[in-house]
Amino acid sequence: MPYKLFIVTLVLHYTAAEHYKIKPDFVKTCFKSDPEFDDCSKQAVQQLFNALGPGLPEIGMVPLDPLKIPKIRILQGDGPVNVNAALDDVIVSGFGDTEVLLSQVDGKSYSFYTKVRVPKIRIEGTYDLKGKILLIPLVGRGLCWFEPTNMTIDIVSDVKLYDKDGFVFFNVTGAHVKYTIGGLKLRMNNLFDGISSLEDSTNSYLNANWRPVSESLRPILSKTIEDILLGFLQQLFHNLPANFMIGDIKNNIKKSDKKV
Ligand SMILES: *[C@@H]1O[C@H](CO)[C@@H](O)[C@H](O)[C@H]1NC(C)=O
Ligand SMILES: *[C@@H]1O[C@H](CO)[C@@H](O)[C@H](O)[C@H]1NC(C)=O
Repeated sequence: MPYKLFIVTLVLHYTAAEHYKIKPDFVKTCFKSDPEFDDCSKQAVQQLFNALGPGLPEIGMVPLDPLKIPKIRILQGDGPVNVNAALDDVIVSGFGDTEVLLSQVDGKSYSFYTKVRVPKIRIEGTYDLKGKILLIPLVGRGLCWFEPTNMTIDIVSDVKLYDKDGFVFFNVTGAHVKYTIGGLKLRMNNLFDGISSLEDSTNSYLNANWRPVSESLRPILSKTIEDILLGFLQQLFHNLPANFMIGDIKNNIKKSDKKV
């Protein structure tokens, strides 16, 4: 393990909500018994993303685009990245243009495998950083932005089923993410307390070396995306009955519980 210490904490606010009792229009129902299930499910997940863009206040879902995150804290020691950083008042835009490439659902566990592509993401916020990236010591606080392009994300979501009010629901217990990006542009204002020659040359260096920079940030970014995604999926699926999504879903939970 190259990373001794690695903590990301972030705060997203969700409000309590009443779950859907009638299937909303944006939900497309697919049947696992249908040989065309994967195609149907890809369209269904695309419709979900489209609806999540502006948010679903009736079930307490904040907009996905722009996504506002009050705070992300990062603490990581060792390795090419050694940072103690905070990002405040973060605004992430671009997830509204998410294109679903693939959606599969395991026939037994109902875990989801989803592959998506996001053409362009922009992350803006106020950073406070002390650490090293690519062995360069970086210190500063100020406005910053990051722009990854052509991001493809593979997502595996672990789920458990449970019954509530006569519906079956997904309890999303984990989200695992792998991603690739086609490019990264970034800017950190006020690096080294605004010694502008250093600030400009360091920003140029980081942009010119975007690939190793993005590789070194991979553990941090993966964990951040996983945490955001998990919160989103949990809020969504605690409020959207699973049988609206998969018409012939079977909750085998009682049987398997007895076996254990
Ligand atoms: C985006 O990335 C994917 C996978 O890495 C690649 O196949 C595709 O050609 C890229 N598209 C653009 C527009 O760069
Ligand atoms: C969801 O799963 C978690 C982890 O196993 C568990 O603690 C929680 O009680 C479950 N929630 C529901 C509503 O089943």
